[in-house]
Amino acid sequence: MFKKVQKYRFFIPLIFTVISCNKTVDVKEDKNIIIEKKVDSLLKMMTIDEKIGQMTQVRHFWDISKNDVATKFIGSVIHTQGVNPGETAIEWQNKFIKLQKEALSTRLGIPLLFGVDAVHGQNTFNGATIFPHNIGLGATANEKLVKEIAAITALEAQATGFNWVFSPCVAIPYNEKWGRVYEAFSESTELTSKLTKASIKGHQGNLSNSKTVMATAKHFIGDGATEFGVEGGETSLTNTEIIEKLLTPYKVAVNEKVGAVMASFNTIKGAAMHANKAYLTDTLKTKMKFDGIVVSDWKGFSRFGKNNIINAGVDMVMAVDGDLNYFQKEVKKAIDSNVVSMSRINDAVKRILRQKFRLGLFENPFPNKNFISKIGSFRHRKVAKQAVRESLVLLKNHNDVLPINKKTNKIVVVGEHANNSGLQSGGWTINWQGTKENYKGATTILDGIKKQSTGNVVYDKNATSKHFDADVAIIVVGEVPYAEFFGDVGHESNKLTLNLTKEHKRYIKTYADKDVKTVVVLISGRPLVVTNQIKKSNAFVAAWLPGSEGDGVAEVLFGDYNFKGKLPHSWPNSLADFKGKYGPNFWDNNIKPLYPFGYGLTYKN
Ligand code: BGC
Repeated sequence: MFKKVQKYRFFIPLIFTVISCNKTVDVKEDKNIIIEKKVDSLLKMMTIDEKIGQMTQVRHFWDISKNDVATKFIGSVIHTQGVNPGETAIEWQNKFIKLQKEALSTRLGIPLLFGVDAVHGQNTFNGATIFPHNIGLGATANEKLVKEIAAITALEAQATGFNWVFSPCVAIPYNEKWGRVYEAFSESTELTSKLTKASIKGHQGNLSNSKTVMATAKHFIGDGATEFGVEGGETSLTNTEIIEKLLTPYKVAVNEKVGAVMASFNTIKGAAMHANKAYLTDTLKTKMKFDGIVVSDWKGFSRFGKNNIINAGVDMVMAVDGDLNYFQKEVKKAIDSNVVSMSRINDAVKRILRQKFRLGLFENPFPNKNFISKIGSFRHRKVAKQAVRESLVLLKNHNDVLPINKKTNKIVVVGEHANNSGLQSGGWTINWQGTKENYKGATTILDGIKKQSTGNVVYDKNATSKHFDADVAIIVVGEVPYAEFFGDVGHESNKLTLNLTKEHKRYIKTYADKDVKTVVVLISGRPLVVTNQIKKSNAFVAAWLPGSEGDGVAEVLFGDYNFKGKLPHSWPNSLADFKGKYGPNFWDNNIKPLYPFGYGLTYKN
């Protein structure tokens, strides 16, 4: 068995040498031709079980037991909520190195892809640099910065053992009730497309570099455009609307050679997107010429029509949570009975192998230990802090209450969000649903205020200490972390609304009613209906979900830097704006936003 692996490995560089002798062939094309030849030769050697194995993706815990990677020929392993691969980065790497060695020990030695939901930095690792969520990056509208952030995320993902990230989410959110608004850049197709391009460039580089990872444009298509913003709900747009408003970021992603596209949970005309051949195959693969991997979302196979999803064009299946054996058996039966054709299977496997070759995994299957020291490094945090500063949108600044003079005698800081890096970071931070605790290496907004001020800073967490003699009150309020359907407004799992909680309204009222100059900083994954709170306060800042560098917020409040952020979503005036199927992003002409898309004030000089 071992000998065959060795033989195959020898075979690859050999073809490479022969073909690359022809100097007249364009180098890039040359590389592609070589890869296609390698893919074809390898595919010819594969059994049906090996092919099905390549199409299988599992978690490194719970889904697999000893030897499964080798005996079930697994193609990809992911990390997500559940059991961490270890405490330290080296333990994470070692866990994945062990699994990689198991894959390499098989007859053909095909390396694994290791995927992770690194959606705002390598957010599954405690101690990584956590960037603002994409909505905040949308507010920066800074392509260069987004590219740099993606490159850092790629490096920190590699440093913890991954070569694939399930990011960026390129949705266009139609309704702020959707629990994933913050995962997307903007309601604007144009801005989303610009930042999608930058993000994919940053993540992937030229793909074969060991510092970069394969990116995933998700969720294809219509995830953010469901009626009433329900995660996995019905997207009732016309085909023309889907093509005009939602498809462009995917076109850009495909042009940038994105390695993967993830199918979406939503339905279109009542039919699951996972089983939608017209979009997955005819549009994405055939018309748009996407040659990468269409990966299913969570348990996509058992949830959305089993072999129909393979026939529709899904190439790799997230066979998690009890789906592994079921998927492998069912698809094998389907091949035997011609329900799924061999050519469909071959196409799927080719796409997976192609990306593995493009990533250089056959030559370089293991993570690099030298990258570990870069996790959460000063340089990375500096970029994250720049992103925090540039993402802040100043909505109101009555009588220039901002910037705050550093020598101000007494400042009172209010709100649990002011002193909690978990709360300021949103979902997909350390845990899937985020954390409500401080995490490693992060600074809070209060830390930043204390650093900036030379006067007296007092913290009144719940607005009960009544420091009415303060010159300024900085009140930090907002949403608690959530992810996916847990964040849908109206979902039975939560009591979320698009308003602030009673408690948070009271924080603002307590100080504003006593005529303390009130600066409100809103931490949220979407625009909220805060019209009355904006009226009550002297200054109001939309800070989105800044991530680990909370002190970046204070640097702008105290005038070290000017405000730069512009609204990536139009801002609703009232809850009534959400009465329709779709929210105020897609206003009918009678509804006027409180602030339009692109709004944002700055200091005068
Ligand atoms: C989400 C995806 C995510 C996947 C893997 C799904 O529930 O919809 O965005 O990449 O889980 O964690």
